[in-house]
Amino acid sequence: MQNNLLIYHDFIAGIVEAMDARDPYTSSHSTRVSELTEQICRLLKLEKKRAETIHIAAHLHDIGKLGVPDAVLTKATTLTKDEWKIMKGHSEIGFQILKKIAGFHEIAEIVLHHHEKWNGAGYPDGLKGEEIPFGSRIIMLADSIDAMLSERIYRKAMSVACCRAEIERNIGIMYDPEIAGIILDHWDVFSGTFPYGAEK
Ligand SMILES: [Fe+2]
Ligand SMILES: [Fe+2]
Repeated sequence: MQNNLLIYHDFIAGIVEAMDARDPYTSSHSTRVSELTEQICRLLKLEKKRAETIHIAAHLHDIGKLGVPDAVLTKATTLTKDEWKIMKGHSEIGFQILKKIAGFHEIAEIVLHHHEKWNGAGYPDGLKGEEIPFGSRIIMLADSIDAMLSERIYRKAMSVACCRAEIERNIGIMYDPEIAGIILDHWDVFSGTFPYGAEK
C-alpha cells in the first residue's frame, strides 16, 4: 500500500484543503506546510519514498482538528486552559483516524508527534531528541515556519529575517539541530521557495 501513496496524494490534499477552509486564518495551512516539508526533504537529500511519506504526513498533520469544535478552533481571543487541552488533542485524534488505514501506520505516528519539541517540552508524550520520529521533527519546523510567516487574527505575519532568527534561537529547544542547521545553511535557496507574497 505504501507504494501507492501518490495515488492518494491529490485526494488527501483536496480534502484537507477543504477542511482548512473552516478557519479563514489557517486556510491552505496544510498545503503550505506540505510544500515547506517537501523543500526541507529536498535539502536533506532524503530518499524519494521516505520524502513522499513525510510529505503526505505533512498534508495530514492537523487532520485531527476535525475533532476540535469551531468555538475553540476559530476563537479570536486567547484560549482558556480547558480549551487548550481540547486543541492539543488534535494530534491524538489525527493518530486515531489515520492508524486505521492500511499502510498509514508510519504516517499516523508522524502525525501523533508533530508537536513534540527537541528538548522534551512538547506534546502529547514529551518525547525528546531522536525519540521523536524524524518526519515529525521536519514537520515541526515546517509548521512553525508557516505559523510565523502567516497573518493571524491577533497578530501580523513575521518577516522572513525574523523567522530565520527565531529558528536559530530555538535550535536544540524546539528543533532538531541537524535539520535546522541544514535549513539555515541553505536559507537563501530555501526561503526563495516560500509560498508567500513578495512583500516579505
Ligand atoms: Fe498541529
Ligand atoms: Fe499545523
